[in-house]
Amino acid sequence: MSRFLKTCLLPLSTFMLLTACGQDAQNNTGTSGANNEFDNSRVGHYGLGSRATPEQIAGWDIDIRPDGAGLPEGSGSVEDGEYLYEDKCAHCHGTFGEGEGRHPVLAGGQGSLKDARPSKTVGSYWPYASTLYDYIYRAMPFTQPESLSPDETYALTAYVLYLNELVEDDFVLSRDNLTDVHLPNEGNFVPDPRPDTANTRCMENCRDPKAIKIMSEVAPNPASTKTMSPDKTESAPENQHPGQQTYQQFCSICHASGVAGAPKLGDKTAWTPRIAQGIDKLTANAINGISSDGGIMPPKGGFAQLSNGQVGDAVRFIMEASQ
Ligand code: HEC
Ligand code: HEC
Repeated sequence: MSRFLKTCLLPLSTFMLLTACGQDAQNNTGTSGANNEFDNSRVGHYGLGSRATPEQIAGWDIDIRPDGAGLPEGSGSVEDGEYLYEDKCAHCHGTFGEGEGRHPVLAGGQGSLKDARPSKTVGSYWPYASTLYDYIYRAMPFTQPESLSPDETYALTAYVLYLNELVEDDFVLSRDNLTDVHLPNEGNFVPDPRPDTANTRCMENCRDPKAIKIMSEVAPNPASTKTMSPDKTESAPENQHPGQQTYQQFCSICHASGVAGAPKLGDKTAWTPRIAQGIDKLTANAINGISSDGGIMPPKGGFAQLSNGQVGDAVRFIMEASQ
């Protein structure tokens, strides 16, 4: 009897599942409408899944951009935010945003970014108020993500801004004024001008991987170079400064734009005190590396394959272009 039940039930349930899937797929096709460009023939390509509905997509599409795109209708005051914060956030983040236990600190820390132990908070580190709204809505309270309404999220965002002394206590945050709020560290976020790495896989006559020595993780500037190895560079054209080629290939990556605190080529204010140390000291610092609060210049810019002479030439090129 029990064997009969098993054999009977199994095909039965399989059949029911199949019917359910079939209906589902049909329903989706029906509701998708003519403006949906989705290639119908690929639905169920592997016999799995169904097309995401506009409602399902809307559930994921919650990101807020720095220009305010994505912000929902709504508003919330610092005052409302205070109550919500006490209720939903303070037991982890502290009454004043100081962080309970090891939970993140949300306020303070201004001016600490250059310290050995920087305090990175919304006020000291974060770039945009939109990020704060997005983060709170998406992820907080930690145990109930996406449980807050837009009005609650505006109010809590306003309150965290208030804890950082960025808005007054009567402030009301809304979709219309969120992008007017600027966080103090915004200007220090810059696009990374370094190129993406790219390579083509070698399929024949490849070099023995063991023989390849990795010298640096910083890629040379592709706009100014054909090869990374200095012994293979074409000889410098006549009339060109002997250090220019090395500069362009290995130093400009940081010194052209001022990446990571590097003094920019041609910036007299930045270079005058450095040049005042004298060429010997400057060259020694470029060869051995130098670091300060402002940034790190790795030995030879990170390109250990450069000779001291090449670095010296590049230093002279930089000096002459910056005084
Ligand atoms: C149960 C503890 C808990 C509660 C309650 C909680 N948080 Fe958090 N919060 C965390 C943790 C843990 C993180 C770090 C998460 C991570 O890094 O992945 C965090 C991160 C944050 C951050 C980012 C901090 C940073 O600088 O990286 C913000 C902003 C924040 N929470 C706001 C809130 C707000 C507003 C509320 C109330 C609605 C709230 N949190 C409630 C635990 C909590
Ligand atoms: C990874 C980025 C980076 C690269 C690549 C780089 N530099 Fe620098 N360089 C820096 C930074 C940052 C400083 C400022 C360091 C400081 O003051 O603490 C600096 C400072 C210098 C200084 C001033 C030293 C002093 O005593 O004030 C010289 C000279 C210099 N670099 C030459 C070069 C040369 C030549 C190259 C190419 C061979 C090069 N750099 C490549 C980042 C870089």
